[in-house]
Amino acid sequence: MKTQLLNVSRDSIKLACDILKSGDVVAIPTETVYGLFADATKSEACLNIFKAKDRPQDNPLIVHISDYEMLSEVAAEIPDDAIKLADAFWPGPLTIILKKSILIPDSVSAGLDTAGIRMPSNPVVLEIISKTRLPLAGPSANRSGRPSPTDAQTVYNDMNGRIPLIIDGGSCDIGVESTVVSLAGEKPILFRPGFITKEQLEEVLGKEVILSKGISEELKSDDKVLSPGLKHKHYAPKREVTIVNAPFEKYRELCEKDGAVALCFDEYVDRLNVKCVSYGGEKDSASQAVKLFSALRKLDEIKAEKVYAMMPSTEGVGLAVYNRLLRSAAFRVVNL
Ligand code: TXA
Ligand code: MG
Repeated sequence: MKTQLLNVSRDSIKLACDILKSGDVVAIPTETVYGLFADATKSEACLNIFKAKDRPQDNPLIVHISDYEMLSEVAAEIPDDAIKLADAFWPGPLTIILKKSILIPDSVSAGLDTAGIRMPSNPVVLEIISKTRLPLAGPSANRSGRPSPTDAQTVYNDMNGRIPLIIDGGSCDIGVESTVVSLAGEKPILFRPGFITKEQLEEVLGKEVILSKGISEELKSDDKVLSPGLKHKHYAPKREVTIVNAPFEKYRELCEKDGAVALCFDEYVDRLNVKCVSYGGEKDSASQAVKLFSALRKLDEIKAEKVYAMMPSTEGVGLAVYNRLLRSAAFRVVNL
């Protein structure tokens, strides 16, 4: 299959709409990461997503909508808390898990009776959803297990020959995937941290949001898995990454002693005598989010054998950065 990589234009958007309506997949930018989208109401269309990504079918897809009318079509129940969160954060980087309607096939929800629903703010994806009037199922547009793509060329590198079309809308503003919160149970549970923080959710809901297991530590084999994404291998560069939680001097000594590549904050590049790939400012979690996935891919390009990552803050947006880095490091952390 030939993969077209086209800039945003009236023609390319029309082509994307036509491909989606015909039941095939298109990679489209969102404000978080690039997504690989298909008609969320058609099982066969969504199976094309799993195939293109080599994604395990037990990992459910997020359903993307463009307005509240679509929300009422894809959700079976819309609790007041969902309206509160939607009013506060949609369109934007928040996925809300609700009981799904019969419109959403089991292949999208991986057999669960719920669906993750999100109204993205990127104007390109919003326009395509509202033009087709189709809720779009969309995971990140990477090959399964790889870091999520934050620009169109990275999507092309992973997906060339596997999908018909990639729309190039430039680099993503946020860089890590949406916050995932479940409102399908008795209490709100955060399944995946993102740009919208736990504290922001709690402020709008006026109640505690529980942090799911598996966000800051590895799930044990007997832990109940409420969100399948928590148990899958993720974001992995091809080389071994370890997070080093240490004062700078100790970090520097360890990198030099072991000849490791430093995955460090921007400020330290000139102070290290080893190869460095930087991932944002030390005190700027949002900039770390923007750069982390491309930094992980850069480590592959330079064929880094051993990588020591500087420990990010785990506060606010930092928790999203730490969660992705921890998974890319297969939960290896050393404290010095
Ligand atoms: O920012 C994003 O969310 C991007 C863009 C494209 O919108 N999408 C994305 O999708 O990151 P994906 O498939 O890479 O991640 C979806 C996550 C997975 O961890 C999955 O397990 C969880 O959401 N999820 C989806 N539906 C769920 C459900 N019904 N119950 C529990 N977890 C769910
Ligand atoms: Mg993903």
